Order: sequence, then C-alpha cells, then structure tokens
Amino acid sequence: MNNVSISTLRSIEYSVPDLTKTSRFYEKIWKLEPVAQENGALYFRATGSEHHCVVLHMGATAGVKKINFGAKDKKTVDAIYQRLRGLKIHVSKAPAPLLTPGGGYGFSFRDPDGIEYEVASDVIQHKQSYMSNDRPFKLSHVVINSDRISQQTEWFCDALGFKLSDQTEIMNFIRCSSDHHSIALARSNGVSLNHTAWEMPDFNALMTGVGRLRHCGFEVDWGVGRHGPGNNIFSYFREPNGLVVEYTAEVEQVGEDYKAGTPEEWATRRRKNEMWGNADLPSTSMRKSMHGNLVPPKVEF
Ligand SMILES: [Fe+2]
Repeated sequence: MNNVSISTLRSIEYSVPDLTKTSRFYEKIWKLEPVAQENGALYFRATGSEHHCVVLHMGATAGVKKINFGAKDKKTVDAIYQRLRGLKIHVSKAPAPLLTPGGGYGFSFRDPDGIEYEVASDVIQHKQSYMSNDRPFKLSHVVINSDRISQQTEWFCDALGFKLSDQTEIMNFIRCSSDHHSIALARSNGVSLNHTAWEMPDFNALMTGVGRLRHCGFEVDWGVGRHGPGNNIFSYFREPNGLVVEYTAEVEQVGEDYKAGTPEEWATRRRKNEMWGNADLPSTSMRKSMHGNLVPPKVEF
C-alpha cells in the first residue's frame, strides 16, 4: 500500500424516512447501542472500540448518505487531502477538527461516482469494548454499486491506498487493512448502496443473531453460507427500509503477499453461489434491494 492510505472503515450514515422504526431495528433487533444524538441524527455503536458505526438521518428516501474512513494520524489525513487535490477531486474544506459526536480531525469529499466520504483521525475510541455472543463488534464492509467498477477500483487504490484482494465476474473486493475487504464494488446499472456487513465474533454468535432475526419475523434472504472471496460466513436480511444488511464472521485476514484471484479462478472454486453449496439463491426481493429498488420486509416488530 502506498503511504497515503486510509487504515479502517469506521461507519456508515444512512438517510431514512422513518427514524423511529429504523432506530428500533438497529437497537433492538440488530443489537447496536445508541451512543449519541445530535441535530436530529442518531448515532449507534457496536461492541468494538469504534465510537459509532451507524448514523441515521431523517430523509425523504432511504439510502447511503456518507461512508466514513479512519486514518492513522493527522499527518496522514493531510497527506490524503493533498493527494485528492492533486487528482482534482473537489474537496470543499481543508482538514479541520470535527464537531460531530466522537470528534476527530478530518474532511469530506466525493468519489467520481458522487458518493460522499469522510476521512478522519483521532476520533474518540471507547475504552470499554468487548465481544458478545450475539452482537456485532464492527462494521465489516460496505458494497457499492457502480456501472464502472474497473475505474472505481483503480480510483480507490490510487487515491486512498486500497489494494485489490479479489475479483469475481460481478465484484471487485478491495482492502485497507488486514481484513480481506472493507469495500467491494459491484457491477450494476448505476450508483447505489448494495449492502453493508457487520462482523460477529464467531460462527456461534452469527447463528445466534440469525436466530434472533428469524424469531422477530425477519426472513433470511440469503444464507447461511460461506463466501469465496474473503472466506467469510454470511447471512443476509433486509432492514425496515429494504436496505440489505449482512451478519458475517471469520473474515479472512490477509497480508501484503495475498494473491488476487481472478473471475475465472473463483468461478471454478465455488459450488453454486458459495463455498458450502448450502445456501439457496438470494431472494428476489433482496436482489432488487441490492440494486437500488428497495423492497421493505413485511414484518411488524
Ligand atoms: Fe457482503
């Protein structure tokens, strides 16, 4: 990785039309914990040390509002800022102390597809972090749809120091840490959020989370299975707005020497759509939701 690089995926911000219902899902069902409330936005943490992993804003339609990355220190934030300016990426404000919950030092920008990001260092970390047997400990990855995934992949690597981990016929997986991927770019007709994934401490915690969701009336849209690229166990659901969320576990840890697999290699390694050959095809509703036509689940909770 070049030395101008982000080092972690911190959080995602959504706009949602029903703040009350959505926050009830993320707290009571998905099992995040409210940590702050400011200017009408609601902040939730997982059990890990990151100050918050989800921010909910009131908005006319549901979708991604912003994706937030972490950098090692202020010097790195400044270096990324200079790098983006050199690439003629529009950055409205220079890095500065952040006034949002968790604070830190950073700035915001948009990628060539128009999605907004923030990169920050020195965000407050929770002293009390722990692993729970049924709750996620961090935001694991975000998958973004694009009709130009090759160019977007190159941009992430060039501008932000990401590295290509694997390619399939439909997705490019890129990393900014030892996690196999923190971002993936999915081939689609346009730009939208495909899904977010939340890491559980282990398989048992993932299955306990799946059991809770099912008990509360949420159907499993895909899974339980094991992905090829990343080797992570997965189970997919739609949250109340129809946005797709994944519980994942056992994400592969990779080093600098990891050799990226090609679409042809992955096509022969997998049984059906995943490694075990256990999971049926993803539900039609989930596939629609993943490509921007959100289908909310029919469930009262
Ligand atoms: Fe995923």
